[in-house]
Amino acid sequence: MNAIIISGSTIAGKFREELKQRVKTLTETWMQPGLAVILVGDNPASRVYVRNKAKTCDELGIRSEVFSFPGDISQKALLQQIQDLNANTEIHGILVQLPLPGHIHIDEIIAAIAIEKDVDGFHPCNVGALAAGHALFHPCTPFGVMKMLAEFNIPLQGQHAVVVGRSNIVGKPMALMLLEKGATVTVCTSRTRDLASHTRNADIIVMATGKVNLLTGDMVKPGATVIDVGINRLPDGRLCGDVEFSGVKEKAGYITPVPGGVGPMTIVMLMNNTIEAAERARATAQAVARQSSMQ
Ligand code: GUN
Repeated sequence: MNAIIISGSTIAGKFREELKQRVKTLTETWMQPGLAVILVGDNPASRVYVRNKAKTCDELGIRSEVFSFPGDISQKALLQQIQDLNANTEIHGILVQLPLPGHIHIDEIIAAIAIEKDVDGFHPCNVGALAAGHALFHPCTPFGVMKMLAEFNIPLQGQHAVVVGRSNIVGKPMALMLLEKGATVTVCTSRTRDLASHTRNADIIVMATGKVNLLTGDMVKPGATVIDVGINRLPDGRLCGDVEFSGVKEKAGYITPVPGGVGPMTIVMLMNNTIEAAERARATAQAVARQSSMQ
């Protein structure tokens, strides 16, 4: 079997056209959606991610502001920045690029973001709401994976999904979103004993470990759907995922490539969440205006 390639770049391109239209409507009838991105320190990968987010905002017509701080910024100063952005009515989404330096208490920083601006979906209230099945914002990477599965009409209800990776950014929310759609979900890690015994039973495998070639062809049931969230840099500079692509594509029914798979979907879902935040802010502003005109 030669797997069908799920191209994130192609699906993201389709979404972008739809998102551009929503931005245009907001901008013409109310105001331009605005995203603030906070970058701390000089992690080269984070710089690239932040640059790509700002570039995509530009392309879609979203206002973006990047706040760059030195790695030794204090907790207090970072909290003050977030409070300023919470109060700024021209900013509808706030994203703090992770990881943060060791002296910063990440949980306190994320909890300081107004939940209606938490476009990453990392605020503890949004995490709880996702677990309860009514998330305000879905974390962008697993949300992008769900859109890719939907685009190819891959059934989820009653199917066995194995998520490998337990991060707060991908693995845990991914498991919750699949569960919400009626999948039977197993969560593994890169250290799970006899990982292959789990993945061989899976109809859908989502790899999110950051371990090159962790999933090989012999670990996959024929016809399974394999989603590779890993982005790893090889010593020669090339990017690759967690899946040994050439072997797995011989066994799988569907597979995502790296690059050009989940990555482009993550950014588009961030744009979607920012636009949604702005649309909700407009609805709230209009409701307040109606109330005050009745008084
Ligand atoms: N670092 C890696 N992925 C992400 C993400 O989705 N959001 C944020 N804020 N930081 C990240």
